[in-house]
Amino acid sequence: MALAEFLKQLDALVAAATAAFDGAADEASLEAARIEYLGAKKGRLKAVQKFMGAVGAADRPAAGKRLNEVKTQIETAFTAAQGRLGAVENPRRTGEVTAFDPTLPGRSLRLGRLHPITQTIEELKGIMGRLGFSVAEGPEIEDEWHNFEALNIPLEHPARDPLDNFYLAVAGAAAGTLLLRSQTSTVQIRVMEQGPPPVRIITLGRVYRPDTADATHYPMFHQMEGLLVDRQVTMADLKSVLRLFAASFLGSDVHIRFRPSFFPFTEPSVEADFQWHDQWIEFGGAGMVDPNVLQMVGYDPEQVTGFAFGLGIERLCMRRHNITDIRALYRNDVRFLRQF
Ligand code: PHE
Repeated sequence: MALAEFLKQLDALVAAATAAFDGAADEASLEAARIEYLGAKKGRLKAVQKFMGAVGAADRPAAGKRLNEVKTQIETAFTAAQGRLGAVENPRRTGEVTAFDPTLPGRSLRLGRLHPITQTIEELKGIMGRLGFSVAEGPEIEDEWHNFEALNIPLEHPARDPLDNFYLAVAGAAAGTLLLRSQTSTVQIRVMEQGPPPVRIITLGRVYRPDTADATHYPMFHQMEGLLVDRQVTMADLKSVLRLFAASFLGSDVHIRFRPSFFPFTEPSVEADFQWHDQWIEFGGAGMVDPNVLQMVGYDPEQVTGFAFGLGIERLCMRRHNITDIRALYRNDVRFLRQF
C-alpha cells in the first residue's frame, strides 16, 4: 500500500471516530463507539494498523509516526466524550476488569492489638481502681523541681548526675533546666501541689535513664507510681495495698516482702519483693512519704501521713508472660507482639 493511501485512511479514521464519540448521547453508545474504534481485537484502529506492514519499508517510519498521533487523537476524543457524559473512569467499563463477582468472600481487615505493655497498664489501672486509686498524669519532660528538689533530692545528690539523666539543652529555656523524667515520683509532687489531702492516686507512664540496653535494661521504661496521703496512714496500709495488688496481678499465692532501703523522698524506705514460683523478685521501691516532701507541697506532716511506691511495669509484664528480654518489647517485631 502506498503511504499516501495509508495516511488517507488514518485521517478518515480520526474524523469518523471523533464524530462517533462526540455524537454519543449516553454512556452505552459511547461504549459501543469505543469498542468499534478502539476495541483491542476488532477495533477499526487495529484494522488500519494492520496495513502498516503493506507500506513500503522506506515509508514505514513516517507511517508509524502518524499512526501514533492518530491513536492519541482518538483516545483524547474518547476521554473528552467520557468527561462530557460524566462517565467516571471505571476499569470494568473500559474492559480491563471483565467482571465483578459479588459471591466472592470479602477481604477481611487485619486487626491490630494492644502492645503488651499497654495491656499491662490497662490491667494495673483496673486492679488499682478497685482499690480506690484514681489515675493521674504528668509530663515526660520535667523541671528539676518536680524531678528532684521537691522530692528531697538536693543539688549535690548523685541522682542528679548528668550521666544518670537525660538533661535537655533547650535554647533560652525560661523554665530553667529540663530533663526527661527519670521516675514517675514527679507526679506525686504535681498531684499534691494541685490540691489538699486526702490523695489516693496512681500514675503510669514512661521514664528515661541513660542505661545501655540489655536483657533487663532499656533507656526508656514504664513505672506505676502510687501515692496515698490521709490521716493516720501507716506502713501496714502500704503493705496491705501492695499485697492485694500482687495477689490480684500474679495470683493469690503471691507473698510479698519488704527489705530496708533508702530513697530521699520516703522515710522509712523499702524495696518491695514479690515471691513468684519460689523465687523472690524485686518489683520496686516504696516507703512512707518523707515529712520534708509533705512540707514542700504545703501539707502539714503533723496532720497527715502517706505512703508511696514505684513499680517497674516491664518487669510485671515480663514476669506475667515469661518474656526474658526487655528489648523484645521495643523491637516492634509483629511476630513477637502478635502473641500477646
Ligand atoms: N522513684 C523510685 C525509683 O524510681 C521508686 C519509689 C517510688 C520509691 C516511690 C519510693 C517511693 O526507683
